[in-house]
Amino acid sequence: MKAELINLFQKTYGRLPEVIARAPGRIEFIGNHTDYNGGAVLGAAIDRGVGVALARRDDGKRNFASGQKGGMVRLGAADVARQIGDDAWVNYPLGVLVALPEFGLKAPEGFDYLALSDLPTGAGLSSSAAIELASALVYLAATGQQPARETVVKVGRHAENHFVGVPCGILDQGVSGFGLKDHLVAIDCRGPKFSTVPLPAGAHFWIFNTHTKHALVDGLYATRHRECMEAAQGLGVGLLADVSVDTLRAAEGRLAPVVFKRARHVVEEIARVSQTHAALQARDLAAVGQLLTASHRSSQTLFENSTVELDFLVDQLVRAPRVFGARLTGGGFGGAVMALTAADFSAEDAKKVAEAYAASFGAAPDILHTQTGDGAALL
Ligand code: GLA
Repeated sequence: MKAELINLFQKTYGRLPEVIARAPGRIEFIGNHTDYNGGAVLGAAIDRGVGVALARRDDGKRNFASGQKGGMVRLGAADVARQIGDDAWVNYPLGVLVALPEFGLKAPEGFDYLALSDLPTGAGLSSSAAIELASALVYLAATGQQPARETVVKVGRHAENHFVGVPCGILDQGVSGFGLKDHLVAIDCRGPKFSTVPLPAGAHFWIFNTHTKHALVDGLYATRHRECMEAAQGLGVGLLADVSVDTLRAAEGRLAPVVFKRARHVVEEIARVSQTHAALQARDLAAVGQLLTASHRSSQTLFENSTVELDFLVDQLVRAPRVFGARLTGGGFGGAVMALTAADFSAEDAKKVAEAYAASFGAAPDILHTQTGDGAALL
């Protein structure tokens, strides 16, 4: 990716970049909608991501180009208004720029900027966190600053929450920032505290991207966020992570039925994350897979953030040989399903699932056999 970035930067701006960084996309392994509820989550950085190259300018102008989108967005130094339409992708690097001073960090003044991605967008693999983290790293390097990795992660989330306007938790940026090849990233979202857990050998990931996206996806995410906060309030706690499965069960009558269902998903999902830690430690991939599928069923029936397309894929996958488990990955309401499989699950096996899907829905999903990768870094 580095050579490609240098090449394209030179073509676009007629000079070489000063700094280059890359940040990976992520899989949400298990821990669905637990992050903003203060719970635990496990994710994996993958071997695809977003690269950003930058060179400073001394006229204060900020130019943004992307290998994926044509044209260039040219902004003045004081021009930090949210972009719309085709230029909306700039809100990620711009949001990071605006977030830096909030953390006592300096933002670079003028620069030429180029982003390049090999990560499918809209697949629930967090291309937004990847571009945020890669942008943060080049801005910081260009201004000679080296804050702790945790701060970089928080800057990315701040951009997403306050500039892009999605009330997401720390999962996406945390995994992109702390990823490690052959490991899962474990986040205790309350701290937040980040650590890594070895992934047992022989575990493979297959992603099936449906390219479907609910038209109201951001609004639905925000609604779930609100319902969870309402549940916590109704239970007299700050966040749902403070409620045990038993306490919640005993409180069923005190919450509106829909709010109770949302809370049950989150509280049981947090318990599933800790069961997954135990199963991983025992290298019991069959047990891990069952927990993943249970997570999906809970999304399907309790949190109601699945779709018929995602359910279809999970149903096909869990029936297929060499599959340990499958679930939607990310916020839901469309996007992708991930399957945890044995090493000998083949492209032929994946194709059968895709063909069955195409026969029902008219178009085949994209298939991605992905591996774990390292977290965001300067190149
Ligand atoms: C999206 C958000 C994350 C997390 C997941 C659901 O990916 O960005 O913060 O809430 O949904 O677990």
